[in-house]
Amino acid sequence: MAASKPVGWGILSTGKHARKVALAVQAAHPGAIVAVASRDKTKAEAFVREVGLEGASAYGSYEALIADPKVEAIFNVLPNGMHLEWTLKAARAGKHTLCEKPLASNASEAQEMADGCKKAGLLLMEAFMYRLHPQSAKLLSEVQSGAIGELRFIRSAFCFIMEDLANVRLSASLAGGALMDVGCYCINFSRFMAQAEPLEVAAVAEFGAQSKVDEVFAGTLHFPRGIVAQFHVNFRVSGDTQAEVVGSKGKLRIERPWFPDVKSAAFQVQTGSDVRTVTTDHGGNTYALEFERFAAAIRGQGPLPLPPEDGVRNMRVIDALYRAARTGQNVKLG
Ligand SMILES: NC(=O)c1ccc[n+]([C@@H]2O[C@H](COP(=O)([O-])OP(=O)(O)OC[C@H]3O[C@@H](n4cnc5c(N)ncnc54)[C@H](OP(=O)(O)O)[C@@H]3O)[C@@H](O)[C@H]2O)c1
Repeated sequence: MAASKPVGWGILSTGKHARKVALAVQAAHPGAIVAVASRDKTKAEAFVREVGLEGASAYGSYEALIADPKVEAIFNVLPNGMHLEWTLKAARAGKHTLCEKPLASNASEAQEMADGCKKAGLLLMEAFMYRLHPQSAKLLSEVQSGAIGELRFIRSAFCFIMEDLANVRLSASLAGGALMDVGCYCINFSRFMAQAEPLEVAAVAEFGAQSKVDEVFAGTLHFPRGIVAQFHVNFRVSGDTQAEVVGSKGKLRIERPWFPDVKSAAFQVQTGSDVRTVTTDHGGNTYALEFERFAAAIRGQGPLPLPPEDGVRNMRVIDALYRAARTGQNVKLG
């Protein structure tokens, strides 16, 4: 059987994450990235050179990249507040979009993106790369096998120090904030483990006096079947990033839920005094995996691992949590 033509990728922006992902994709699939765009052409040229994207075009505007016929799919790695605009512009130019998390600034924008891509017959996926690592499927399988009894509680945290007011994470106008930046992982993980949508949420937050975005956020999600999830995200502490999934008979302890070790990822299944370690050796680079799986879906060689509706549902929970934090009232999700 003839191998299908590789998907030509265009990267929108030359920021920190764009560079990290491009390096991983170039190492796994040399030549897959055919174009890079920046607001400043010299930055795009430097990116192409430094990442070693030989032969890739360097554009000085995002418009020029999405007009390039070599580009079949874009990686939208712009600040959160720009995801909607450039995903829709890419869709109008006939390009598929792998879009960074969180999918948009709010659920209605995310819905607009999902609808726009669907109407154009194009794929859209939120880049929750950890979901594509085999560790995530193994975690769900432990829960579903009953290894920890009935699922009761999910606890997760994602914290690091962020004080640079010039960083997009501390920009209100670009839809920054701890809940948007990393709380989205905790919500996605909780929904994934519960295999359900929360019925109701409660939250507290600390907003930065200067940044005006939430720099500390703690949320509680109440799921069907009596399952409760709690999470904590914080730009003012480091070293608290992990997850636990607690059942009636035991729990899963995951030290690296979002960035599983490339060589050997591991989590523990604890029941009473018994501790079993589940490992995944060479599970793959999650950034290369998201590009591979999205490209396979474009070619009809596999399912879209994370349909856009999943991103819309995650954003609905984010919206509800912000409402809960701002009003001090629990918010029900319809
Ligand atoms: N999945 C993950 O592991 C992960 C990790 C980190 C970040 N992310 C996501 O990736 C996205 C980008 O984050 P990042 O950390 O790469 O941010 P970043 O380093 O600030 O890069 C963002 C880029 O967007 C472009 N941009 C266009 N308009 C801008 C504006 N008004 N202000 C600032 N930048 C502007 C700039 O590129 P040009 O100057 O080249 O145009 C900039 O370098 C976010 O959605 C974030 O949530 C995901």
